[in-house]
Amino acid sequence: MTERIISSEANQFDEQFELSLRPQKLTQYIGQHKVKESLNIFIEAAKLRKESLDHVLLYGPPGLGKTTLATIISNEMDVNIRLTSGPAIERPGDLAAIVSSLEPGDVLFIDEIHRLPRAIEEVLYPAMEDFCLDIVVGKGPEARSIRLDLPPFTLVGATTRAGALSAPLRDRFGVLLRLDFYDEASLEEIVLRSSQLFDIEIDRLAAREIACRSRGTPRIANRLLKRVRDYAQVIGDGSISHTLANQALELLQVDPRGLDHVDHKLLVSMIERFRGGPVGLDTIAASIGEERLTIEDVYEPYLMQMGFIQRTPRGRIATKLAYDHFGYTYPEQT
Ligand code: ADE
Repeated sequence: MTERIISSEANQFDEQFELSLRPQKLTQYIGQHKVKESLNIFIEAAKLRKESLDHVLLYGPPGLGKTTLATIISNEMDVNIRLTSGPAIERPGDLAAIVSSLEPGDVLFIDEIHRLPRAIEEVLYPAMEDFCLDIVVGKGPEARSIRLDLPPFTLVGATTRAGALSAPLRDRFGVLLRLDFYDEASLEEIVLRSSQLFDIEIDRLAAREIACRSRGTPRIANRLLKRVRDYAQVIGDGSISHTLANQALELLQVDPRGLDHVDHKLLVSMIERFRGGPVGLDTIAASIGEERLTIEDVYEPYLMQMGFIQRTPRGRIATKLAYDHFGYTYPEQT
């Protein structure tokens, strides 16, 4: 199977590479200016008052730096961070074990918080609101609830789908920050920064080329940089020129707008089999053999941002831009 450049998660091999690239402080973090500006103020205010930072919800498409921001928050607040995820917390006891081991002010990061089981959400409410846990001990008529005090902590929740969060959980976050796709200038800067950290020689134009094909996503930019570096070492002299970057990216089947073979399959299928739509997401998913959720979380947000797909009440439609991009004649609307 070919390696996927686009995915919702960092894979095991990227993890090491990405960890060493992650900015540690807000000033090193490139892009997301509004988010940075807000966070900076909230962090400084909490520090002035010597309080823990209010709970933060980070939402937006995968790969935009939610985990990185959580780590930066803990560094800026000078506290520890505990990293976990919604699906990893299966029982109320799992959550109790984690929160009761926190030190005052610590950051608890829960990735994919929308996948937290409902029963656990309910344990989380008093923990977030009053820094306490209500634990039931015993069974049947003997059962009683005991209250356990917790140190004040900051919950940083991350989700790709804020809409999937229950309203009571969402309402308990004091700070809600939406991450948007990065612009090309920011991605170019990220590629240059990563190249410098890895001692890779790269032209500015080559960095721009990788940036343009990264779907507004730093994780993808860094993955592409890794693959282009491989190509440069084996085919060239190790340095990355614009020409070499173009050749490598062509081999990787990432087109000039950053679309990969799954995007191609998806759009071409909509155009050829469904006359451009409207067509339901489940139908598209079945016709190209991809999971509905993968399309919804990973592929569709960027295709909509680029204006290739539109959502309508009757289903998705491929736009004129999509027809043009693949060289199809757009059917005149009657
Ligand atoms: N590496 C990945 N994302 C980054 C960002 N937003 N700023 C700097 N380096 C990064």
